[in-house]
Formats: sequence, structure tokens, C-alpha cells
Amino acid sequence: MQDNIIVFPEPPPGDRAHLVTHTLPRPLTPLIGREQEVQAACRLLRRPDVRLVTLTGTGGVGKTRLALQVATNLLDDFADGVSFVLLAPISDPDLVLPTIAQALEIKESEARPLLDLLKAFLRDKHLLLFLDNFEQIVTAAPRLTELLSFCPQLKMLVTSRSTLHVQGEHEFPVPPLTLPDLNQLPDLEVLSHSVAVALFLQRAHAAKPVFQITTVNARPIAEICVHLDGLPLAIELGSPHQTAPATRTPRAAESAIGGVDERSAGCPGSAADPAQDY
Ligand SMILES: Nc1ncnc2c1ncn2[C@@H]1O[C@H](COP(=O)(O)OP(=O)(O)OP(=O)(O)O)[C@@H](O)[C@H]1O
Ligand SMILES: [Mg+2]
Repeated sequence: MQDNIIVFPEPPPGDRAHLVTHTLPRPLTPLIGREQEVQAACRLLRRPDVRLVTLTGTGGVGKTRLALQVATNLLDDFADGVSFVLLAPISDPDLVLPTIAQALEIKESEARPLLDLLKAFLRDKHLLLFLDNFEQIVTAAPRLTELLSFCPQLKMLVTSRSTLHVQGEHEFPVPPLTLPDLNQLPDLEVLSHSVAVALFLQRAHAAKPVFQITTVNARPIAEICVHLDGLPLAIELGSPHQTAPATRTPRAAESAIGGVDERSAGCPGSAADPAQDY
């Protein structure tokens, strides 16, 4: 899902990202939690023997979001920067190389196969290629290994709902957000900083700035997060942040912040179904 990311042509001053060439989209909301995963994935990609890391996990678990932070933290590690390639819109494996070439602003030529052009361009580059949403074109994965074996300083960070199953791949499974223990609900302060609840509250605040977690709504909020299996996208859709369409807002979420929308009451097909594939 790319619904809340946007590209800023001029990064704000003081942001170290502006010192290095990159084409990373910038999220419009803060990253919540994920400190350990960011550190672990960065450590993995910094290892000299690791060239290809695939962040895997179910739809909406936060692969792209995590990978964006990892890539941002690694900007200083790659002299030629980080290039972001959005693959979600393509379903034809034959379009993978043209899409990468387009992102790198390489012009296609009738005289030379695209793979050769890409190899020539990337051969001496110390670059991180961030390939977002590879699951629907996974049969093109051998092309990636071909590029990697020809370009010794190239590394790849891939997000995919399934592994690529190619040599040299290091899978990094992305877990759901940490959930509170409903049997031992902590006090409000601790609960509001537990990751899944913090995401719910962040989105609720965006909708209702006066909203506060209280002894009354704490348990319903925690229950919603647990019911949604800690999936960030489901929590976003389940929070009252999503005002349109109203039918996607579970009644429990609206009750939790004290405002049930009659139109959404009892509506089926909401994000409350944790098995829903986003
Ligand atoms: N740790 C987080 N903090 C804040 N927002 C998050 C976090 N993780 C995910 N999100 C938000 O949840 C939504 C889903 O996350 P994301 O798009 O990264 O999922 P995904 O695993 O890449 O899904 P897909 O398989 O559909 O590509 C996005 O709007 C994202 O910004
Ligand atoms: Mg994604």
C-alpha cells in the first residue's frame, strides 16, 4: 500500500537524507516502533557477504514502511545512493527490467539488450536498489541475481509477500506490531506506548485531536488491536482515522473513541477481518 507516502523534491534542511542521492518516498506519518527490526535489517545489509535482503510478510504488515526506514538509515553507507523502484503496478515479469531502468533513468536502446545496459550502468555503482512489491513478478527474480553477480557493489532490498527463492537471498520476515496482553493490561501510560496501540492512537488523534486514552476506552482499543492481529494496515483502517468510506470503520473502533457513526453500525466487510489480504 502506498496510500500515505509522497515524494518531496526538496528534503528539509538538516535531514541527512539530502546529502546523498536518493529517490525514496517520504511517509506522511511517523514510524511507530520497529526499532529492533530496523537495526537488525540494517545490520544484515551492512554485512559484506549480504547482497540481497527480502522483507517478507502478509499484506499490510508494514514491509514497505520498514524498508523505507532501513533504506533511509543506510543512505550514508552507499556512495551512489539509494534508488527506489515501485513494482506494485506491474504484473508482467518482463517489465521488471524496464521498470528498474526507468527508475534509474536509463534510456532503452534498440542496439543493446536492456540487461546489458543495466549491467553497464550498475557495474561500478555502490548503490542500494530498493524494489518494492515483488511478489507478483517473482519469476523475474533470477534477473536480479544476474545483475548482482555482475555488479559487485550493488545491493538490493526487496519487499515481497513471498520469498524470491534465489541464491544469495536473505529473508527477513516482518512480524506484526507488538500487542498488549489482554490478560494483564498495563497502566494507561505503558499501554499507550505499546506499539499497536500507539499506532491506533496516532491515527485516532489525526481524526480527533482531543481524543485521549482513558480507563474506559483502554480495553476496547487494546481488544481492537489484538483482534486485528497487530497488522498496521488493518489498525489504520480500523481506527476512526478512516472517515471515508465510513463503511470500513468497525463499530467497536468508533465506540472506543466515543462516536459511533450510524452508517457504519453493523457493516460487514470491514478491516476487522484479520484474514483479509491487503
Ligand atoms: N510501524 C509503523 N508505523 C506507522 N505506520 C505504519 C507502520 N507500519 C506500517 N504502517 C502503515 O500501515 C500501512 C501498511 O503498511 P505497508 O504499506 O508498509 O504494508 P506492506 O506490508 O508493505 O503491504 P503490501 O504487502 O500491501 O505492500 C501503511 O499505510 C503504513 O504507512
Ligand atoms: Mg508494500
